[in-house]
Amino acid sequence: MAQALYRKWRPHHWEEVVGQNHIISTLKNAVANDRVAHAYLFAGPRGTGKTTTARILAKAVNCQNDELSKRPCNQCEFCQAIDQGRFLDLIEIDAASNTSVDDVRDLRDKINFQPNQGRYKVYIIDEVHMLSAAAFNAMLKTLEEPPAHAIFVLATTEIHKIPITILSRCQRHEFRRVSVMEIIAQLKKIAKNEGVNIDDQALSLIARQATGSMRDAISLLDQLSSNGQDISISEAEDVLGTATNQAVLELINYLLAGDIAAGLDCIHHTLDKGSDPRQFSRQIVDYLRDLILLRSNNGDLVDETSEMKTEMASHSRQMEMAQLISLIQCFTRAANETHATWQPALPLELALIEGIYILNKESSQNAIQPKLPASDHKNWLQKQPELKPEKENAVLANKTTHFEQDNNAAASETLTLKQIKDQWRQIVKLVGEQNRTTQGILNSCRPYGVKDGCIYLGFQGDIIKSKMEKESNLKIVQDAFSRVLGMEVTIRCMLISGQKDNLPPDVDSDGMVATALRDLGGEIVDVQ
Ligand SMILES: Nc1ncnc2c1ncn2[C@@H]1O[C@H](COP(=O)(O)OP(=O)(O)OP(=O)(O)O)[C@@H](O)[C@H]1O
Ligand SMILES: [Mg+2]
Ligand SMILES: [Zn+2]
Repeated sequence: MAQALYRKWRPHHWEEVVGQNHIISTLKNAVANDRVAHAYLFAGPRGTGKTTTARILAKAVNCQNDELSKRPCNQCEFCQAIDQGRFLDLIEIDAASNTSVDDVRDLRDKINFQPNQGRYKVYIIDEVHMLSAAAFNAMLKTLEEPPAHAIFVLATTEIHKIPITILSRCQRHEFRRVSVMEIIAQLKKIAKNEGVNIDDQALSLIARQATGSMRDAISLLDQLSSNGQDISISEAEDVLGTATNQAVLELINYLLAGDIAAGLDCIHHTLDKGSDPRQFSRQIVDYLRDLILLRSNNGDLVDETSEMKTEMASHSRQMEMAQLISLIQCFTRAANETHATWQPALPLELALIEGIYILNKESSQNAIQPKLPASDHKNWLQKQPELKPEKENAVLANKTTHFEQDNNAAASETLTLKQIKDQWRQIVKLVGEQNRTTQGILNSCRPYGVKDGCIYLGFQGDIIKSKMEKESNLKIVQDAFSRVLGMEVTIRCMLISGQKDNLPPDVDSDGMVATALRDLGGEIVDVQ
């Protein structure tokens, strides 16, 4: 098998280490001035260059080049031996598999012997936080009085697990997550050298997904390029999952346009493609936070490509600071909403609508009125928990703010749950004429809700639900619904718990009031 790309592209020289300049310049100077310390601690996230830098340091302190500032030269015997992994005085220990006191004592005994080849014995101890308390104690003795020929580099991803006694004896360096831009630049260089054709969007997707780990980024590139073909954004998305960031941008656009229907569509589409609703909410919050940074002239802190920053700047200009804060609160709530597990999209849907309301209410006169979807918009919560059920038809509206538009025209085209219930037997019959099995499946669910031309069927169990979700069954059912109701509808299936208790007697157990009360912790404040 070919060598993994990330190994092949391990930096051999100070200058090749990306994104850790603060550390590299200190170490380089120490070598040039012959003031290298005896114990270092390299802390930071996975794949950011800790082991790489430790090896460069090991080379530099043993390099035979006459000029200190040129070390490591990568040419001399010792430099080459280290690069090829056959230098006797570089000892790499994985603390994760050598955690015992005996291991450390063994190390301590050997440490007093003079180096075999070079000037220094360099010990790189990886994952040092894995050492036992006793092993740390044994280690401490060595760190207190290291022999002049020994240099320790302790590396860890979890600095909080390192005893303070150890920390205080080491010169500490904290490795940063590598930024998206830096990762993209490095990947470009690697792709060019390896003859891999990859488009910029795909590179940017990889860079984001790597969340600061250069090794992860290179491995993703390796994985994508393994079949030797050009890599486009769609191939990258197929392998790496969807570009949720794109969905975040879209959703913000719909928020700004006040387009509820398109916003809901975007949410469903994103979740259908496998994104986790909570994760999606958090990404929206992260994005909004970045907009705040941009608005407050802290754009430097935003880790994004320049194209992305341009788009963000345009978004940030369209929102007031107060609105951004309210939006963040609103989507944070969606991210934390744990009750609505039966309807995972609901907290996000509510946040979207509330968000449109926030932008509409607080922006200046040229604000866009929220366009209500032509369907049962009245069943939407605008602000909870100020709920206001209106008769049995479950009308929810904010206590102080009603949508003022005249929606009579739209209402006549609106599909209600009642209509569906009235036609249910007819629909079941029609389905039976097409296929008896499908009819049986339909019989084991009930119409649960209507929204934006989507009819939600509630199932008590996952198995039946997934049968219904088969394309052939869905099509038969959808056709029957469309024929009986005289309009195009989409069918969606969902799991329901079937519980009806704890609801006031005049509340429709299928309605949004029930949903709000049961699953979102709402409370009734006024009944008309
Ligand atoms: N800062 C960086 N600049 C360039 N390449 C890097 C950098 N960090 C990591 N890499 C790439 O990732 C690979 C692994 O890096 P390295 O082993 O140094 O990471 P690490 O920080 O020690 O990770 P771990 O905590 O998992 O041990 C390198 O071979 C190199 O290809
Ligand atoms: Mg390492
Ligand atoms: Zn050398």
